[in-house]
Amino acid sequence: MNWWKNLKGKVKLKEPLKDYTTFKIGGRAKYFVEPKDLDDLKLLFNLVKRYKIPILVIGAGSNILISDKGIDGIVLRLNSPYFKRLIVKDNRLEVGAGCLLNKVILKAKKEGLSGMEELVGIPGSIGGALAMNAGTRDKNIADLVENVTIMDYNGKIKTLDKKDIRFGYRSCGLSRYIILNTCIRLVKKNKKEIQNRINNYLKYRKSQQDLSKASAGCVFKNPPQGLAGKLIDLCGLKGKRIGGAAVSKRHANFIVNLGQAKAQDVIKLMALVKKEVKNRFKINLEPEIKIWR
Ligand code: FAD
Ligand code: EPU
Repeated sequence: MNWWKNLKGKVKLKEPLKDYTTFKIGGRAKYFVEPKDLDDLKLLFNLVKRYKIPILVIGAGSNILISDKGIDGIVLRLNSPYFKRLIVKDNRLEVGAGCLLNKVILKAKKEGLSGMEELVGIPGSIGGALAMNAGTRDKNIADLVENVTIMDYNGKIKTLDKKDIRFGYRSCGLSRYIILNTCIRLVKKNKKEIQNRINNYLKYRKSQQDLSKASAGCVFKNPPQGLAGKLIDLCGLKGKRIGGAAVSKRHANFIVNLGQAKAQDVIKLMALVKKEVKNRFKINLEPEIKIWR
């Protein structure tokens, strides 16, 4: 059954997913689809409905842990030039979901537009950053957004004003939609000043985080009572290893892939960390990363 034969974009069968994630973990996708444009995406959703195929959307794969068994369905990536368009209009950027956040920050700098520098170093796409409301202590992407254009699984498109989106800490309430693009508002600033801000935020990130090994960044959200990294550190878990996965020796809320980690190694390590923190501090850690089982 070649259900995909009328799609104009890329379709790969039994595609290994680990190279699409920063964890470098995950089995194969039965179908890996990169639609060419909006019409192609709509056609894909028609087919998905007709043939009842489950579908998951991946961005830059920097906040996902994918099962070693892989995905028995479609993994969708908005990676064609159509979904990576970036248009500058005065102090606004219209950005496709497939653009990488770091590239958008550099483009903004070139245009003398400031406001996104706090987010530099987050290795996500715009779609993933919006889905996760990615950010730092100083700023979340929601702080910059004017509106977000989404598509539902029936192919219906709408643009939501920021006030109609329920952005929260690492959430945006749009999990039932595909994020297509966004309009971000920035402010004019001197390019040198923007570059200095970028350098300072990158320097801080490098001073705290484990950037030399494969990971998905912080695995747990910070609980209301404190910092997950500090709590895990106080439990003496830095360096704790299960299979090929280990709690980072640099930042205790990072789990790193030492080379051959299985998804189960990470899941078991997360469970151990959660248990130790619960026993010692009576605090429940909630995962930040999305686990595709
Ligand atoms: P993915 O990991 O591909 O997907 C994450 C979720 O978004 C999934 O549920 C996916 O289905 C959904 N999604 C992706 N694209 C779309 C779309 N177009 N429409 C609808 N849903 C979509 N995060 C922070 O918040 N702050 C940080 O400082 C930070 N630092 C990091 C440092 C490192 C070294 C690493 C590896 C990760 C870090 N992260 C950080 C985590 C991660 O980079 C962010 O959450 C990022 O925004 C995820 O984007 P992505 O494109 O990789 O999404
Ligand atoms: N700390 C420790 N031990 C550790 C790690 C941290 O004691 O092993 C303590 C230190 O005192 C450090 C403090 O925690 O000064 C704060 O650490 P950091 O600045 O790294 O902040 P964080 O709260 O751990 C959050 C985000 C990061 C984001 C940084 C920078 C979450 C879960 N994490 O980390 O985002 O980059 O702030 O603002 O909210 C991510 O979400 O994946 C992520 C990396």
